[in-house]
Amino acid sequence: MYSLSKTKKEKYLEELFDFLKIPSISADPNYKTSVKDAADWLAKSITKAGCENVEIFSTKGHPIVYGEKILSQKLPTILVYGHYDVQPPDPINLWSSPPFSPIIKKTDIHPKGAIFARGSCDDKGQLFMHVKALELMISNDELPCNVKFMFEGEEEVGSDNLEVFIRDNVDLLKADVILISDTGILNNDQPSITTGLRGLSYMEVKITGPNRDLHSGLYGGAVANPINTLCDMISSLKDDNGKISIPGFYENVYELNKSERIEMSNIPFNENDFKKSLDIEKTSGELGFSSLERKSIRPTLDVNGIWGGYTGEGAKTVIPSIACAKISMRLVPNQNWKKISVLFENHFKKIAPDSVKVEVTTHHGGQAYITPTDNIAYKAAHMAYEKSFGKPPFSVRDGGSIPIVPMFEEVLGCKTILMGFGLNSDAIHSPNEHFGVFNFFKGIQTIPYFYNNFNELFKKTIL
Ligand code: BES
Ligand code: MN
Ligand code: MN
Repeated sequence: MYSLSKTKKEKYLEELFDFLKIPSISADPNYKTSVKDAADWLAKSITKAGCENVEIFSTKGHPIVYGEKILSQKLPTILVYGHYDVQPPDPINLWSSPPFSPIIKKTDIHPKGAIFARGSCDDKGQLFMHVKALELMISNDELPCNVKFMFEGEEEVGSDNLEVFIRDNVDLLKADVILISDTGILNNDQPSITTGLRGLSYMEVKITGPNRDLHSGLYGGAVANPINTLCDMISSLKDDNGKISIPGFYENVYELNKSERIEMSNIPFNENDFKKSLDIEKTSGELGFSSLERKSIRPTLDVNGIWGGYTGEGAKTVIPSIACAKISMRLVPNQNWKKISVLFENHFKKIAPDSVKVEVTTHHGGQAYITPTDNIAYKAAHMAYEKSFGKPPFSVRDGGSIPIVPMFEEVLGCKTILMGFGLNSDAIHSPNEHFGVFNFFKGIQTIPYFYNNFNELFKKTIL
């Protein structure tokens, strides 16, 4: 294991802080130059680490940073993917320290301290582990195989331009495995490998009632209120058992067999701790499934935002003309996100009463993914975690989505291994996002094991 001196650790953290200070918010056009600044910073950083042919590829959106270190055509190639863009930090007032002024604070779960900043865990901190791990391997003359780095600036907004880029650069990106640290482990004593990601279908709906906002005394009772109507429509999307009522929604859903469900129930998950960590009295979801199953292997439908009418100070008696909502569905293997989006749109239009007009828009989406466990990449990762944590990792299907992963397989024909180091409690996408200092350094130390294991196993398979 690479032992990291105190000076080295301090330097790595200092560099990561510089990276985290750049507000690379991909969703907000006001931050376009900051996203570019982050790309420039990263290109310099991977050059310093020893990457060659470093290039910043501009796209219709935010740039893609590429670099490589090719030792020999005979050796296997690992393609590392990550994203340097971050989610918007709002609501800003709920942060205990400013989101782009990284600071280390101790928490119960991170007694050695955690780095508080937007992007610390998702995904700048995790991406940066790869940069430092490569730097260590190169500077010690111990890089065992070829490596390619590809970092994008649009993951949090759907990776639209990355898809175009990989389709246009199949040869450049040719690799034997894709390695990503953009997920998590069960906890700091118990590593895990993410073997599944959910898909996503993201919709927006707009309900229009009367042609203008109305006095609720003069018109109320005789005209449909679009907010009331929208709420009725939304609540009809699930039945009393928590099943989604869109016809055809469950048609292709991959159902786990008995042994797969038993295997899942062995994953350490404590329902009470889960409730406690969220200050809730009771969990809720689809009948017949455990919380762990509900949040990973079952499809869902959630309202992500809803607006309309008067939300300012005091009271205003009004019937709004318009009500809107953002609604997303997490999908599981064999569901097709484009098909699900169409099913949703048709159903939502069908259930609307004649008293309102409905518009439905499809935002981005993506397919679910299952990573195989019978290949050398999984074995290499398994051995790497076991060596650095002293415990074998569990295989865990996660509930989040990284839509570019199934796209990599479709376009490049290459499998992905998800070696994350974050924790669910790290508050990604939320105020006070953080990443354990322990996790950051553990990642830097575990990654070289993967490189070596993968290289060794690869040699055996071609012999
Ligand atoms: N890194 C996350 C996804 C993730 C986190 C997967 C933890 C599994 C465990 C990624 O940056 C993300 O937030 N993805 C989005 C989808 C994207 C299309 C906006 C998501 O899952 O909401
Ligand atoms: Mn991410
Ligand atoms: Mn994210």
